[in-house]
Amino acid sequence: MYNALTVDEDKQEPLLHRKHAKYFLQFLNLLPARLASHDSTRGSIAFFAVCGLDILNSLDMLKDHHRDGIIDWIYGGQVIPDRQAGIQCGGFQGSRALKIISDDPVLQANAKCYQWGHLAMTYTGIATLATLGDDLSRIDRKAIVDGVAAVQRPDGSFSASVEGNEYDMRFVYCAAAICAMLDYWGDVDKERMAQYILQSIRYDYGVSQHFEAESHGGTTFCAIAALSLSGQLDKLSESTIEGMKRWLIFRQIDGFQGRPNKPVDTCYSFWIGASLQILNAFHLTDFDANRKSIISTQDNVVGGFAKWPSCSTDPFHTYFGLCGLSFMDEPGLSEVMPSLNISIRVYKRLKEIHEKWRIENVDTLTTTSQN
Ligand code: FPP
Ligand code: ZN
Repeated sequence: MYNALTVDEDKQEPLLHRKHAKYFLQFLNLLPARLASHDSTRGSIAFFAVCGLDILNSLDMLKDHHRDGIIDWIYGGQVIPDRQAGIQCGGFQGSRALKIISDDPVLQANAKCYQWGHLAMTYTGIATLATLGDDLSRIDRKAIVDGVAAVQRPDGSFSASVEGNEYDMRFVYCAAAICAMLDYWGDVDKERMAQYILQSIRYDYGVSQHFEAESHGGTTFCAIAALSLSGQLDKLSESTIEGMKRWLIFRQIDGFQGRPNKPVDTCYSFWIGASLQILNAFHLTDFDANRKSIISTQDNVVGGFAKWPSCSTDPFHTYFGLCGLSFMDEPGLSEVMPSLNISIRVYKRLKEIHEKWRIENVDTLTTTSQN
């Protein structure tokens, strides 16, 4: 017998690929004034928009001159240490506000004192360059990785920057992702980093930002991905891995929450989904409920995804919503490499670049310690 209700329930709400691609493009043209306060992290907005277009298989919507302009803009944020000029620490900056072009030597010198890399901006900068098809030849790998080593703390964690007072699992992840993408760990102490991660595993097998804090889905991703990228997943015992899988799978309500008793949020379909992918346990989740939850936060008019249904969309949740859908093989989306948070296509290109570096560049990287 025909049952209209069953037919409607079975009908899947479509993913609006083109609308989301156009949504991302807007953020690569002109940022609205209300985002002025985000200027210092502008590099991460570019990351979500460019990598989001890649996941949508729509990078060809960027004209060549636009693509080249974004690449040059990102390289414009690269900080190379210059002790005489007072620039201590390499990396990338997210904003160009301190790259002052002036004939006034005092102004120039003062601005230079505030130039240093920020780990999140360095990670997103390199990932965006690779996604845009750049060959990374203008990156000073040694200066960047020396900058990462310079912000490692005695407990193995990392600060965001030399003058930063934030240090937690987010920057552990950024440090590992930078070194993995540059295929160079230099003086970064991977073992101490792993020690920090292992000490941050909580009684419930989630991972916290700092020792003794609450388990969280975002930081659990950062910890598992950093161990994977540094080839140290084997430092987790079998029973710990089983406990982690359990904690992660229990974060599914329909979509995923970040911690117990908190609401579901689109971005956790990535943070939790990617963690489970790395641990080969994503197939144990309910795909149908997850998809419905992500799609319920899609904006059918302006495009993009929000954290919750009927809320304003943003590039962060749009990107992570698409990654969450890609993990479930949504048609029309590229496959995501969970630990680096870029497409598999770009990851494969990175591997080719690494091979080229190994053949050509091996002598240019010498550090004081073995990695
Ligand atoms: C909200 O916390 C925080 C997030 C939704 C982001 C979580 C992701 C990370 C910590 C990883 C970030 C990684 C990098 C590389 C920057 P909340 O306390 O407001 O939300 P909740 O109520 O869902 O816990
Ligand atoms: Zn969120």
